[in-house]
Amino acid sequence: MKKLILSAVAAAAACATLNASAAGHANAAPAVDPTQMVDAFEATNGKFEGYRRSGAKGICAMGEFVGSAEGRALSTASAFSGTAVPVIVRFSVGGANPKAADNTKSQRNLALQFNLPGGEVWQMGNISAPVFGASSPAQMLGRVESLRPDPATKAADPAKVKAFADANPEVLLQGRHFASQPVPASFGAVNYWGVHAFAFVNAKGEKHFGKWVFEPTGGVQGLSDDEAKAKGASFLFDDLRQRVKDGKVSFHFNLELAQPGDKLDSATVPLPEGRKKVTLGTLKVTSVAEDAGGNCVNITFNPLALPKGVEGSSDPMLSGRAAPYGVSLGRRLSEGSKQ
Ligand code: HEM
Repeated sequence: MKKLILSAVAAAAACATLNASAAGHANAAPAVDPTQMVDAFEATNGKFEGYRRSGAKGICAMGEFVGSAEGRALSTASAFSGTAVPVIVRFSVGGANPKAADNTKSQRNLALQFNLPGGEVWQMGNISAPVFGASSPAQMLGRVESLRPDPATKAADPAKVKAFADANPEVLLQGRHFASQPVPASFGAVNYWGVHAFAFVNAKGEKHFGKWVFEPTGGVQGLSDDEAKAKGASFLFDDLRQRVKDGKVSFHFNLELAQPGDKLDSATVPLPEGRKKVTLGTLKVTSVAEDAGGNCVNITFNPLALPKGVEGSSDPMLSGRAAPYGVSLGRRLSEGSKQ
């Protein structure tokens, strides 16, 4: 069996060996038809023609990323060369509603497409919680279906919601995180986690698994309940434009390195506290769309569109995302895509 070497970066801790069955693509989670998944999203969350079926309220921006020496030690990906690479950025509020309120304790998203030399792209969609609301596509579908409004009452059946959550308690973890945090003051002042493990492959062929988080260089900033109320339902876009004009929106791209035995196949289980964290580089947002246009509108951010030097883990949600994103993209393009 091929051994995968998990060493800490450069001068760091001892090397250890990971069993390939934990790291490979062996997960046999039941597949979910991506059309059925997107249909379920629409039935539960509403259908808003032309918009993304999740993360509908969003704004395009552009940025540049400069990789660090630590990034280069971990991965041959050209993103870490140290030369600035252009990045298409999309910030959004969670959910299917393009008029979702900005002043609630809900999900914020940071989606990125690194445009690398030679036409290579690296896409990702990161969220403002260290865990997602499901650990497998089947569980995701079950959760979405449990939340479907009853046509008579126009509300979800609390007994169904409870029965599903009781049988799948991890679906409640993400909501607990949001409830424990203040409303984010800005798209530029909240952490965005990747939630999946990825492998970083260096020039020696060594694989280091880790989970990443984009952390604002100016720190996290939240609103009190009174401040959130006073801000109203739509302040995030203007706030972002102003902060970017002032040169104040940048993030450290940080990677928490896994240790042998860490769970690498679940978006609902973060790595244990205290894992070594390295900074792979810095993303600076340099401009923001003045309107609902921009070059993020007609693309999707497929978490398996990875550059050479970065590989997916066995987390079933990775492939579980890629196909429904394609279905959602197809639907909104054919409806006339909106932002
Ligand atoms: C089976 C599980 C999942 C399904 C079915 C799903 C579905 C979707 C769909 C349909 C979209 C809209 C895509 C588009 O039209 O371009 C979307 C967007 C998004 N999803 Fe998921 N998702 C899943 C899991 C996740 C997870 C685990 C994360 C955590 C990182 C995540 C983060 C995002 C983000 C950040 C966006 C917005 C991206 C953008 O700005 O275009 N999703 N999701």
